[in-house]
Amino acid sequence: MGNTRTTKTVIITGGNSGLGFECAKTIANANQGWHIILACRNANKGTQAAETITKETGNKNLSFLKLDLASLASVRNFVAEFQSKNLPPLQGLVCNAGITSGESIEYTKDGFELTFGVNHLGHFLLTNLLLPSFAEPARVVVVSSNTHNPAIREGKLVGQAMYLGAERLAHPNSEYKLTSGQKYTSSKLCNLLFAYELDRILKKGNKQITVNSFDPGACPGTNLAGENNIRKTIMDSWLGKSLLKIMGVVASTPEKSGEAMARLLLDSKLENVSGKYFQIYEEIASSKDSYNKTIAKELWEDSVKLTKYQDIYTILS
Ligand SMILES: NC(=O)c1ccc[n+]([C@@H]2O[C@H](COP(=O)([O-])OP(=O)(O)OC[C@H]3O[C@@H](n4cnc5c(N)ncnc54)[C@H](OP(=O)(O)O)[C@@H]3O)[C@@H](O)[C@H]2O)c1
Repeated sequence: MGNTRTTKTVIITGGNSGLGFECAKTIANANQGWHIILACRNANKGTQAAETITKETGNKNLSFLKLDLASLASVRNFVAEFQSKNLPPLQGLVCNAGITSGESIEYTKDGFELTFGVNHLGHFLLTNLLLPSFAEPARVVVVSSNTHNPAIREGKLVGQAMYLGAERLAHPNSEYKLTSGQKYTSSKLCNLLFAYELDRILKKGNKQITVNSFDPGACPGTNLAGENNIRKTIMDSWLGKSLLKIMGVVASTPEKSGEAMARLLLDSKLENVSGKYFQIYEEIASSKDSYNKTIAKELWEDSVKLTKYQDIYTILS
């Protein structure tokens, strides 16, 4: 398998851990000619993950490229470095990396609230800067979370998502402060608003680039809740898993949901499916707010300003 000729490239953000790692492993195992780039902020973790996947699958077509979504300069450097490499055409992008943060406000290198900055703004800029490099047909997968939906149990448990506008999410003050859970769920709502708006723009431009969103379910065992964190210890325990079941939360494993995430890229039946939201393997509806075209456009335009990015509307026209 190590010598399979690669014909296309996929970039997976946060591919060194949890769901991104399992997704990369599934793609490597599928042996469909992908060169897989693990876009990670930590070089040791990134190269080690690539080596582990090679060892476990026999597929050598993986490489690491440094990407810190908490820095717009790093996102730009990543894209420049990617473009300078002589890799097979870019036909896949999985916006998977994500964080939760505590109650106090932390900031990205550019002064944005960290959760919104990493989960939404970093991926917004990355995707837009990569668009001219895509070879059609291509697929984009945006990893959200069903906790973005305040109408369901998961959303209520973690903290009601609030779309306050990009400027207020990026620069919270005492008046517009969200709880730790709300910062996460609101950023995941932004992931969906972004994915649906991108899909509409690409369809208008007759681009053969599909954009689908993904909820992996609750997957204890990843590092999302933070290393050595009490939440992680509880979630990973037998008690935590039983509690999730009793509460009726849709639960999965990193392995199963990583496979389901990869399927959005690999499955030929999904070739023309775009603008949809999948919970593990099932297409479901997202929250009412996530379908609001007005706030999606507003989020897009404000994200352009915040990231100082030249708009795709200009590129497509
Ligand atoms: N696990 C769940 O129950 C669950 C449920 C719903 C949705 N999700 C979503 O699934 C996605 C993957 O999460 P996971 O559960 O697999 O967690 P994870 O194991 O913590 O993986 C997150 C990945 O994101 C990377 N990352 C964090 N900050 C970054 C930055 N500034 N720049 C680049 N990469 C960065 C991490 O890198 P490091 O290793 O260097 O930290 C890691 O590779 C997230 O978008 C999350 O919101 C997870």
